[in-house]
Amino acid sequence: MKIYGHRGAKGYAPENTMSSFLKAQELGADGVELDVQLTQDRQVVICHDWKIDRTSNGTGKISALTLSALKKLDFGSWYGPQFSGEKIPTLAEFLDWFRTTDLEANIEIKNGLIIYPGIEKEVLKLIEKFQVGERVFISSFYHPSLKLIKEMNPYMRTGALFACRPVNPLIFCRETGADFLHPHWESVDAPWVRQARIRGIQVNCYTINVYEQYLWVAKAGVDGIFSDFPDRKTCCSECQ
Ligand code: G3P
Ligand code: CA
Repeated sequence: MKIYGHRGAKGYAPENTMSSFLKAQELGADGVELDVQLTQDRQVVICHDWKIDRTSNGTGKISALTLSALKKLDFGSWYGPQFSGEKIPTLAEFLDWFRTTDLEANIEIKNGLIIYPGIEKEVLKLIEKFQVGERVFISSFYHPSLKLIKEMNPYMRTGALFACRPVNPLIFCRETGADFLHPHWESVDAPWVRQARIRGIQVNCYTINVYEQYLWVAKAGVDGIFSDFPDRKTCCSECQ
């Protein structure tokens, strides 16, 4: 079972910052998960929320702010004084570092609550520029984004995120061409995972942070998990 550091290593460093990604790498994660949004001047930046209020000393919507305005803000102090001065990373800055590693990366496109027309194309352009497509997969709760990605690049691997427990989640793959299913951990059990596997679909679950959750998804036989604590590989033998 692969462990992907959720928003880097959110349990140890401010989420979606370079400190967080470096921490996940240091802890031995197989890969990192990150969320992307689009600025007013159409730069792809890494941030979970569509507003910056929770994770910075600024306020407002990312879509209404330029990259240079965002770069003036502190995205670390809210987490702890040792992270003061941490900047919001662009996807380009992340990929420039990522290409020097042997990690995998799951880029989650945060279309949905707010729609960023054309974000899929910008993300694909950057992946191509840094030539890291083989180690990257793209996910979204907003499934039209996944469909667009496949239309633009049929080789880019995609994962369909969903929060509910649908009767037939495989329909998401059929309709979007997604390669992976990314359900909430409570949605899965062994027969469910087997159904996906039979069809060659990988299952990665979010967000696994405590022993009982590890145990649950390990028994279900999922392929990968997203965790805020990507060092907890040794929490139980069944997770190995
Ligand atoms: O991709 C898994 C997980 O990150 C989805 O939920 O809200 O943490 O982006 P969220
Ligand atoms: Ca995410």
